[in-house]
Amino acid sequence: MGFRIAVIGGGNMGTAFVSGILGKGLMQPRELCVVEPDARRRGELSRQLGCEVFEAPCEAIRSSECLLLAVKPQIFPECADILAPYVDQTPLCVSLMAGVSLSTLQKNLPVVSSFVRAMPNLAARVCQGVTGYYVGSQLEPETESFLKEIFASVGFSLRLGSEQLVDACTALAGSGPGFLFAILEAFVKSGKEFGFTAKESEELVSYTVLGSLALWRTSSSSLSDLREQVTSKGGTTEAGLNVFLERDLDGSIREALTAAFRRAVELSGS
Ligand SMILES: NC(=O)c1ccc[n+]([C@@H]2O[C@H](COP(=O)([O-])OP(=O)(O)OC[C@H]3O[C@@H](n4cnc5c(N)ncnc54)[C@H](OP(=O)(O)O)[C@@H]3O)[C@@H](O)[C@H]2O)c1
Repeated sequence: MGFRIAVIGGGNMGTAFVSGILGKGLMQPRELCVVEPDARRRGELSRQLGCEVFEAPCEAIRSSECLLLAVKPQIFPECADILAPYVDQTPLCVSLMAGVSLSTLQKNLPVVSSFVRAMPNLAARVCQGVTGYYVGSQLEPETESFLKEIFASVGFSLRLGSEQLVDACTALAGSGPGFLFAILEAFVKSGKEFGFTAKESEELVSYTVLGSLALWRTSSSSLSDLREQVTSKGGTTEAGLNVFLERDLDGSIREALTAAFRRAVELSGS
């Protein structure tokens, strides 16, 4: 497509996207550049991924059609000030920053024509991420389909119908791995209390999760149907599920997600 992307911030997310894009052959290393102040990360990025890496924004940014913002939200205003002199030709800016609203993006980078707010999750590092994205203004169909390919290079993506859904996506998919890790930690801990070694317990739990997900994703049954299939009357699963029911597991999960959503709204002020 003859597109150049400048990735601002070569940390976890910036690197995940660069390696996804290059790994899927979507772009060549010469079509990407990264701005990253940390010398060690700069060395790794240029050695492992072969793209140009700069310590600070410079003229090379000016020739990019897309900026991918992957810095921490709290440093964004300061970063935008340093970046602004080099972005006069940039038609598109994709922000991966949690809690930075479109209006804040526009206020800090007024010369950019179009903004996209995206919320990936950590599994982007292994190309199995989930990215919800909201397109702030109409894009050329060619640009939009290229953008979709970029998100697809790090996993599954979903175009969102409103900016508020970015905050909902932050709660469900952005924080989701953290919630699931906490639940799985409790499973592993219980396994160890039953007498399994840590390794045995981790294997039992992780393969159970993988198998359950495979059953769900490959069958036409709903989650409720699948749950019923493994719950015989008076059996072991029913005994455990009754505890979830008594302790209102549904309610706890709903409250946790609502708390995460409220915090995302609060942070982005959207
Ligand atoms: N990690 C996740 O699971 C996740 C999920 C969804 C969204 N996000 C969003 O993705 C963004 C990046 O998160 P991350 O986990 O990748 O953070 P990170 O690993 O800390 O990466 C941010 C990078 O930006 C660099 N940086 C600092 N100032 C800069 C500047 N002025 N110009 C260019 N680069 C600069 C940092 O360098 P120094 O370390 O030297 O300061 C760091 O390497 C955040 O806004 C976050 O909200 C992350």
